[in-house]
Amino acid sequence: MGRVSGKIALVTGAASGIGRATATKLAEEGAAVILTDIDEVGGTEVAASIREHTGVAEFMSHDVTIEKRWQEIISHVTATRGRLDVLVNNAGIVRNTSIVETSLDEWRRVIAVNLDAVFLGTRCGIQAMSASGGGSIVNVSSVYGLVGAIGAGSYCASKGGVRLFTKAAALECAAGNTGVRVNSVHPGFVDTAMIDEVLEATPSPSAARQMIERMHPVKRMADPMEVASAILFLASDESSFVTGSELVVDGGMTAR
Ligand code: NAI
Repeated sequence: MGRVSGKIALVTGAASGIGRATATKLAEEGAAVILTDIDEVGGTEVAASIREHTGVAEFMSHDVTIEKRWQEIISHVTATRGRLDVLVNNAGIVRNTSIVETSLDEWRRVIAVNLDAVFLGTRCGIQAMSASGGGSIVNVSSVYGLVGAIGAGSYCASKGGVRLFTKAAALECAAGNTGVRVNSVHPGFVDTAMIDEVLEATPSPSAARQMIERMHPVKRMADPMEVASAILFLASDESSFVTGSELVVDGGMTAR
């Protein structure tokens, strides 16, 4: 028996990085996984790779900022799979610009993908899960939802918003006896395409990588699977008394 055997799980931003690792791990542990992303080629490949390894996976094209598409996706999942047990709101973007150089459009885009979409997903998730007796929603925030960072004002605002929105949602779900738990995960730097993009924008990517690694007391970045393991715990019934919590997965970065 896997740790999430028989559960129906939806993971956004599942074509790459943490989302890809999470979808793979949930499928390995027995869940049927619906992967969504704007990257149709990547998402289709990840779903096919999971199926090759005897997991159950399906890809759906999904821009998380589109309200109507959320309703279509959740309706499809509940109609074809009977219910939704786990939702991982993982899709996200980063923009590294100083506050004075950030346009209002750039600010709004980061808030739309990283925060508005978490609201849209959580709202849909609560409705679907309440109807079948409960479930687990995991919102991927960041260490930069806990502390500030230079050149990441919009990102910090969005991820800090995810942290407190998660707690408000957890309280509402508990008060309403919905059986739905809502938690946030706060990774330090994780070795994914998102970080490659950040590094490539610096004068010396290798020096910047070393600097980032040294920001963590364990002197390295996380592997995406290390974050997926934390998400798996929150998705599974092993965390049945955990709601409204913030699980920090940062190699000690915010411990000092
Ligand atoms: P990534 O860039 O490897 O993957 C992000 C995925 O989200 C991509 O597949 C992308 O196509 C998808 N995506 C982007 N905009 C979308 C949209 N509008 N609708 C649907 N999908 C969309 O990034 P990574 O590192 O795996 O990040 C995943 C989450 O983890 C993000 O929320 C990020 O902010 C968060 N995070 C990442 C950290 C890192 O160091 N990599 C650290 C802390 C948090």
